Amino acid sequence: MQQAPFVFFCRPGFESDCAAEVQAIANAYELAGYANAPTDSGYVRFFLFDEESAEQFFEMLDLNDIVFARQWFWAKAELQDLPLEDRISPIIEMSSGGATGNSVLVEHLDSDEGRELSKFCKKFSTPLTIALEKQGLIHEDSEFRLHILFLANDHCLVGYSPVERSSELKGGILRLKSPRHAPSRSTLKLDEAIQVLMSKKQQKQVFRLGNTAADLGAAPGGWTFQLVERGLQVSAVDNGPMDKKLMATEQVEHFKANAFNWFPEKPVDLVVCDMVEKPSLVANLMASWLEEQHAQQAIFNLKLPMKKRFQEVADCIGLICDRLEEAELSYHWQAKHLYHDREEITVYFRVK
Ligand SMILES: C[S@@+](CC[C@H](N)C(=O)[O-])C[C@H]1O[C@@H](n2cnc3c(N)ncnc32)[C@H](O)[C@@H]1O
Repeated sequence: MQQAPFVFFCRPGFESDCAAEVQAIANAYELAGYANAPTDSGYVRFFLFDEESAEQFFEMLDLNDIVFARQWFWAKAELQDLPLEDRISPIIEMSSGGATGNSVLVEHLDSDEGRELSKFCKKFSTPLTIALEKQGLIHEDSEFRLHILFLANDHCLVGYSPVERSSELKGGILRLKSPRHAPSRSTLKLDEAIQVLMSKKQQKQVFRLGNTAADLGAAPGGWTFQLVERGLQVSAVDNGPMDKKLMATEQVEHFKANAFNWFPEKPVDLVVCDMVEKPSLVANLMASWLEEQHAQQAIFNLKLPMKKRFQEVADCIGLICDRLEEAELSYHWQAKHLYHDREEITVYFRVK
């Protein structure tokens, strides 16, 4: 019998990378399974071969450890041909066999088809939540979150995820508004990276008035803008021109230089890098910054136009970890294909 699938949400076009990564995670835990990842659908279904393996997989999966997934849950039931006049009753019937949740997320995918369901999902969320509450299926202190993923307006998957190891955001998407005076829209990438990849404690530690940062490949200044807004003094390294308003803040010093051989005179609190370069070159550069203690924290993009993107990410992160281990530095890292990332992922490293 086919087991209930695990569902992973990703950016449309990245299904095979997400599937390869989930497969690698299962393999690392010696669990056998297979993925079904329709192209451009925005999601992956992953099936374990037996119930015991599925339980184990559920116990250890953590969204923070998965680069190419934005959200996940264990889909315990699939409901098709839902009566349009009452979709709630069949969902309640399926939910009552499963776990309670501390909340319910009515989800849709980020594909063209999925986004067409967004209005409906928003509208459906309140009556469904009220009905689930009436049935005693919503408990504030539940360890789980209920997910109803609509694939069409009469077709959904019903399941749950652990609150601590999945996202409280619909589709795992952190929606941000571009600030009016930002020099480029890519400012949102760094804003999202800071909020998603750094803990509140790390943010407090780094973003103190007067602390310093270096921005490699900074022009026109979208990332520098985020650092300036958070109170940092920034060394912006780029041969290209920086935004005039940003320079007028007097929090930015512009170095017209090749960022591959520019290092600060004194260590900075954070280095960021958004250069369009081969991922292995950027990974090596970031390893040098951390190894030589020019900075203890780094946020950078790895641009991934190639086909085997998951493999490239694994190689680049492996390369940095190897170099830090050789230097006997302990470290923490997390990487994510963020909502505002396109053909790239964002990585955060901290050495202690
Ligand atoms: C994607 S843009 C950066 C955008 C910037 N993060 C922002 O938010 O406005 C990449 C930048 O990297 C710069 N760049 C590429 N190679 C570089 C190098 N070797 N040294 C310095 N800058 C470099 C380019 O000039 C370009 O301005």
